[in-house]
Amino acid sequence: MDDLLVRGSEKWSRYPPDVLPAWVAEMDFPLAPPVREALHLAIDRGDLGYIGPTGGLLEAMHGFYARRLGWELDTEQVALVADVMVGFKELLLVHTQPGEGVIINPPAYPPYFDDIPHVGRRVVEVPLGEDGALDVDGLDKAFAAGARALLLCSPHNPTGRVYTREELAAVAAVAEDHDAFVVVDEIHAPLTFNGSFTPWQAVSTRGAVLTSASKAFNVPGLKLGFVVGEPATKLHPHLRYHAGYAGLVAAEAAFSGGDEWLDETLATIAANQRDLPALLPDGVAVTYPADASYLAWLRCDPGLGDDPAAVFLERGRVALQSGLGFGAPGKGHVRLNVGTTPELVREAVRRMASALG
Ligand SMILES: Cc1ncc(COP(=O)(O)O)c(C=O)c1O
Repeated sequence: MDDLLVRGSEKWSRYPPDVLPAWVAEMDFPLAPPVREALHLAIDRGDLGYIGPTGGLLEAMHGFYARRLGWELDTEQVALVADVMVGFKELLLVHTQPGEGVIINPPAYPPYFDDIPHVGRRVVEVPLGEDGALDVDGLDKAFAAGARALLLCSPHNPTGRVYTREELAAVAAVAEDHDAFVVVDEIHAPLTFNGSFTPWQAVSTRGAVLTSASKAFNVPGLKLGFVVGEPATKLHPHLRYHAGYAGLVAAEAAFSGGDEWLDETLATIAANQRDLPALLPDGVAVTYPADASYLAWLRCDPGLGDDPAAVFLERGRVALQSGLGFGAPGKGHVRLNVGTTPELVREAVRRMASALG
C-alpha cells in the first residue's frame, strides 16, 4: 500500500487516501523488470528525445504477437501513434467522411462515445446481446441504415469477453457485404488468459487493428500505440513524432523480454477473475465470466439505483468505475478493476459489502 499511495497517476490520485481505488484501467503491480531496466538506462543516458529508427521495436513486436497470439503481423503496415484512441481518430479522419455513422457495441469503453463526435462522426449504438455476444443482425441492420464503420473492441471492455473465430468471421462477412470500414481495438488481447484469442487479421484483412504494449505492461502514460493494417499506411507519417520515445523503449523491452512477467501477471489476474464471483456480496454478480484482462463487469441489485458506484464510494469508500459512462446497458452496473493483489481485491469486495450492509 505504501508504494501505491505515493503513485501520482490517475488511479491512485483521484480520491482521498481513505478510498480504495479499483476503477480506471491501471494495474497495481511493479513494472516488468526488463521494462524498468530499459527505462532506467535511457534516463541514465539522457536518451529521451524523439522516436528514431523503429527496426528493433518492430522486430520485437512481430515476435511478441506471433509467439503469444499466433498473429503474424506485417511490420510494413504498422503506424506509430501517441495512443490507441489517437490512432482510432486519425483512422476515422482518413477513412470515413464527416457525419458518417460509426457503430459501437455498448456497454462500451466510455471514450468511444466522445471520440467519434470529436472528429465529426456519428455514434451508432448496436448493443451486445444479453450473453455479451455480438449482435450480428443488429450490425447488418445498422450498416443497411447507413453506418459506414464499426469500432469493435476485442477482447471487449468492460465484459472481458473474447470473441470466437466464428463470431469475428460473421462480423467480417457483414462488413464485407456493406463495404464498411472496420477498426478492431485489440489493446487487451495480450491479457487473454485462457488462450482463446483470435486476432482480427487471422479472419479478415479488412480495416485496421489498434494495439499497444500499454495495457498489458501497464505503461499507458508513456504514450505509444500502434495502428496495424493497410489503412495504417495512409496515416500521416508525422504522427510518430507525437508518440513517446520512452513508450518505444518500454514497448521494445516488453515485447522482447516481458514474457515471464506477463505470464505471472496473467496467472494473478486469471485467479482474481476466477475467485471473484464467490467473494461478491449478495446483490452484486459478475455479468459475464471474463476470458481476458483485469476488468469485471458487475450487475447490482436494482435497490442500489442506476449508479451503484456512487453508493459504494460514499458508503464503502471504494472507487469503482460507474457503469453509466458505458452507455444505456451500464445502468445498475459497475466495473471493478482486479489488476491488483488478491488481498486488495478482497478488500475492495469487503468495502462493497459494507456499503450494502
Ligand atoms: C478498450 C480500450 N481501448 C483503448 C484504451 C486506451 O488506450 P490508449 O491510452 O492507448 O488510448 C483503453 C484503456 O483502458 C481500453 O480499455
